[in-house]
Amino acid sequence: MNIIFRTRLCDLLNIEYPIIQSGMGSVAGSALTAAVSNAGGLGVIGGAVMNVDELRVAIREVKGGTNKSFGVNLLLPHDLRPPVAEQDISDETVAAVQSALNPIRERLGLPQVTSRPSAPADTVEEKIALILEENVPVFSIGLGNPGPELVETFHRRGSKVIAMVTSAEDARAVEESGVDAVVAQGAEAGGHRSHFEKPERSISKDTGTMTLIPEVVRAVKIPVIAAGGITDGCGLVAAIVLGARGVMIGSRFITTQESIAPQLYKKAIVDAAGDGTTVTDALSGRYARVLKNKYTEHYAETGAPTLPLFWQTSAAQDIFDKARESGEADYYPLWAGQGVGSIQDYPTAKEFIRRIIGEAHDLVATQMARRVNVSV
Ligand SMILES: Cc1cc2nc3c(=O)[nH]c(=O)nc-3n(C[C@H](O)[C@H](O)[C@H](O)COP(=O)(O)O)c2cc1C
Repeated sequence: MNIIFRTRLCDLLNIEYPIIQSGMGSVAGSALTAAVSNAGGLGVIGGAVMNVDELRVAIREVKGGTNKSFGVNLLLPHDLRPPVAEQDISDETVAAVQSALNPIRERLGLPQVTSRPSAPADTVEEKIALILEENVPVFSIGLGNPGPELVETFHRRGSKVIAMVTSAEDARAVEESGVDAVVAQGAEAGGHRSHFEKPERSISKDTGTMTLIPEVVRAVKIPVIAAGGITDGCGLVAAIVLGARGVMIGSRFITTQESIAPQLYKKAIVDAAGDGTTVTDALSGRYARVLKNKYTEHYAETGAPTLPLFWQTSAAQDIFDKARESGEADYYPLWAGQGVGSIQDYPTAKEFIRRIIGEAHDLVATQMARRVNVSV
């Protein structure tokens, strides 16, 4: 049976259902992207952590795997365009970070490190050029305002642009840049908090999805896409009721069969409860919601500072690689949102999309009328 559940976002992005899969770095490769698009949602390649060649291959694989609309996501904060310069990082900060990481290295049998980490790759502009050249239908942005010129360049190629924000003020700013839709990311969301600037403290710029969506809907005229804690049909319907025209879902897709997350990570998601997450900058240098593990707990206890965005990842890469190789979830980056408490299985992307649309349809068509007794 083909269930219809359409909003005007579907027309805008040329998709059947108003469901966008987050372009998750290290989770959403070409297989997941193509599977989501084939199932009627918008699959999005997590391009932020790929190099230019990997991204080119992924885009071509998606084009080979689906003739439906799809997207590519990049992170566009100013501290990646280009990355913070080496001379702007003090020797004291490097020493403090390495001293915080060295006890973990000792536990994992890795050599101690005191030197500077290698610089994160400066590839954002090249990847933008590639996305344009490949005529990718949707460009999805996290952590930055693309500005009117870049949006206009994408529009001239016939591509749509969506940008993710955490406040009504930032939503107005990206609307002014001309983006086609805005993703309102509530504090429950997994992965990086989509702040343009790193706030002083992790919780100083965090509004929950339930309160953020109506505020952003009031602030802008473009369609709003809700993100943060949505894992099922109730969440989809709730987002629409709050005024969103669609949802962006990340954490729920981590345990799908097409996701490239390693098994240790998928299992940790299924085992976790909603209170099992924390917001930390110890993984990348910017605040992100992840599952608590020994890495996040140890780093917090040291009180050490962190390096700028992706310099921190570069510093801890030996630890993350070793954790993956030896299957130790305790030292692996487990990006995830508070919705983990509702994730208990490993469906295909198609099974999940059918399920969420079926649940949402059932809620709207029959359950709501039974749950609420309204007299006029
Ligand atoms: C594993 C993971 C990786 C993510 N990577 C990115 C990314 O590379 N770029 C981005 O814009 N957002 C990224 N996000 C954030 C999502 O865009 C989105 O805000 C979030 O997944 C929505 O909340 P949910 O995880 O509760 O569904 C990531 C989220 C997760 C869970």
